[in-house]
Amino acid sequence: MIWDYYDGKTLFITGGTGFIGTALLCRLLSQSSPKQVYVLCRGGSDKAKAKWSNILPPPVANILTQSKRITILDGELGNTATMNLSEETLQMLKQTVHIVFHAASSVQLHNSLRELAYAVLAPSICLTQYALKFPSLERFVFFSTAYANAHLWKVHESTDVSVDERIYPLGREEEDYYKIALQAWSTIQKTGSSDEYDTHDFPWPYAYAKHLAERLVLQKAVERNKMDKILIIRPSVLGPADRFPYPGFATSEGAPSTACAAAYMLHPGRQIRLSTRCENPDQESTIDEVPVDVVVDRTLVHVALGTSGCVHAVSGEQGRLSTEEWLHAFKKERRIPWKAAPFWTTEDWHSPNLHQMARQFKIIGTSFAFSQERTVRAVEKLGAREMEDLQLFADRSKPCSLRLRRHHIYHQAVQVAKRKKWPVWSARLLCRKGKPVAHLDRKVKA
Ligand SMILES: NC(=O)c1ccc[n+]([C@@H]2O[C@H](COP(=O)([O-])OP(=O)(O)OC[C@H]3O[C@@H](n4cnc5c(N)ncnc54)[C@H](OP(=O)(O)O)[C@@H]3O)[C@@H](O)[C@H]2O)c1
Repeated sequence: MIWDYYDGKTLFITGGTGFIGTALLCRLLSQSSPKQVYVLCRGGSDKAKAKWSNILPPPVANILTQSKRITILDGELGNTATMNLSEETLQMLKQTVHIVFHAASSVQLHNSLRELAYAVLAPSICLTQYALKFPSLERFVFFSTAYANAHLWKVHESTDVSVDERIYPLGREEEDYYKIALQAWSTIQKTGSSDEYDTHDFPWPYAYAKHLAERLVLQKAVERNKMDKILIIRPSVLGPADRFPYPGFATSEGAPSTACAAAYMLHPGRQIRLSTRCENPDQESTIDEVPVDVVVDRTLVHVALGTSGCVHAVSGEQGRLSTEEWLHAFKKERRIPWKAAPFWTTEDWHSPNLHQMARQFKIIGTSFAFSQERTVRAVEKLGAREMEDLQLFADRSKPCSLRLRRHHIYHQAVQVAKRKKWPVWSARLLCRKGKPVAHLDRKVKA
């Protein structure tokens, strides 16, 4: 059984109070019996417990806040491997940890490369170097993003760009791309940019930072001949859980398409200006939103099966939604019926004329077919009974609905109204009232 693999293991997790980290911890601790889970958190135990109690209903939060198996370490990632931890703690981690889940990251898409060098790249490199010295290390899991390869939209002319579970070098295929990654990293530290970044059209600096981080993590493993220890998980756009820890689980700002719904809710015009190269964008452009529990179960299954390299945690060709399907679900959430429709242009995805959400997310109007071949193959190794209890693929048996995220749409619409200096009642007027999902479902229990 997948869960038996984690029994008696010692784990170290960064980002354990975030969207993925919280869902991952809940799942692990309710299904298996690891020996100890060390959670790195800026602000330590009080901060972590307050965050979990804030985002989870009490019976689920208790799984984390009262677990004897969890030890919260007050520390922070930065440009050294010490994480502000004592030498004694660092030695203890080194001697005991079997699996590292590195989920902490800035998710600020538009921060400059200079900022991301500190918030994404340096911490990932330092932590990888440190973890690869652990004598009992079985797996180092690095959370990247499927959009680390979003520059391929500009490289290809297709209106549906296929992306495989591999590294796409930014130079020529035959070049030593680990060496090139080291050169790029060195240039970024000196100048705040790199030639490969300047010559490829990534939607955001964050996408390139993750692309480079993947290569640098692998490069560190190559140096130590430990490529088999690295698992890179690439989620697409995170969405609320289908099943675990309960249907609809999300953090208030964790799901980007909820932010999009909130901004569209308050859009005053009749047209939302978006960019595309698709001929029938409503039907052809897609959003690959993946439920957070699919990301968690894929990660835990691949770790247990010993997978290494890149794995997509996505909804894939069968599970993604067309823009039309998503907008249909969105319109049902608006209290006052509204005939607004996308106004599609062929402007560049960086164009300042697009709707604010298109300027922020850039990938609206595109379509990526992310391969999930490695998970399809992993499933062949699992028994039918084991599969019943796993959420490895997004459930698309029902039409798309945003009902379970009503509360978060409203909360974010209030933030949008405040930012625009509009009265808060405008959010109340336009958004349907929703309670936090866990309050709707009285069956939520540990
Ligand atoms: N959200 C998405 O749609 C999405 C999509 C694809 C990939 N991903 C990737 O998946 C991973 C997890 O994302 P998420 O949505 O779960 O993120 P999240 O909810 O924003 O949580 C980020 C976590 O990282 C921690 N953190 C950030 N910087 C840190 C630092 N310097 N030191 C220590 N802890 C730090 C935060 O701690 P504090 O509580 O102290 O702030 C928080 O626990 C990230 O690598 C992200 O890039 C996310």
